[in-house]
Amino acid sequence: MTGGVRLRAGGRDLADEAFDAVCALHDEVFAEPPFAWGPDTAAGNVADLERLRGDPTFRLLLAEDAGRPVGYAYGHRLPVDHGWWGDFPEPLPPDLTAEWEGRTFALVSLALRAPWRGRGTGARIVRGLLAGRDEERAVLSVQPAATATQAFYRHLGWRPVGRKGPLAGVTPPYWDIYLLSPLPGRDAAHG
Ligand SMILES: CC(C)(COP(=O)(O)OP(=O)(O)OC[C@H]1O[C@@H](n2cnc3c(N)ncnc32)[C@H](O)[C@@H]1OP(=O)(O)O)[C@@H](O)C(=O)NCCC(=O)NCCS
Repeated sequence: MTGGVRLRAGGRDLADEAFDAVCALHDEVFAEPPFAWGPDTAAGNVADLERLRGDPTFRLLLAEDAGRPVGYAYGHRLPVDHGWWGDFPEPLPPDLTAEWEGRTFALVSLALRAPWRGRGTGARIVRGLLAGRDEERAVLSVQPAATATQAFYRHLGWRPVGRKGPLAGVTPPYWDIYLLSPLPGRDAAHG
């Protein structure tokens, strides 16, 4: 570890180039506690990345140290008929769940290898992923057991929306949803 972590942002081309590295990072990070690892966890990430890299709104942020991938984040603009606001025990406020084309970006996955943590790199990755986005807000889901990760997101200004679940066939069955609104650089009234 040199500490000289560089960030690269891209879409389909970067995802094609770094596909195997991102999947390896995902598996290394999420196979460790406190994360729940199920028989479909690795394949689920492969399928997500495979599907989302073809979306023109997809963005990947790759963190490299001396040319070696050490972390990443990826996400995309949610379609209006997404299911993120379903499966909550109580209905969410309509002004939250209202969607229109381009309103919401989803941070789908984020991981940084353990030796590179605690030096501001995770925050750089998240900010780099969101930089220049023209959506109004962003959402993400995080496992309830990942309390340090949740503290990290709150520190960065994300706010918990609620816990959804139980989700049949999903590991783990409950997920906490966080919202960042407005995105940095966006005016709250911009809409
Ligand atoms: C989450 C993760 C990306 C954070 O990366 P990181 O490089 O360790 O975090 P940073 O050093 O950039 O922290 C940024 C800020 O958050 C704060 N922070 C980090 N963890 C915190 C915690 N547990 N509690 C409170 N604040 C925290 C830092 O103090 C720092 O604050 P500062 O900017 O005021 O100095 C990394 O820990 C990781 O990959 N974890 C495992 C995978 C994971 O949780 N992925 C997300 C799944 S949804």
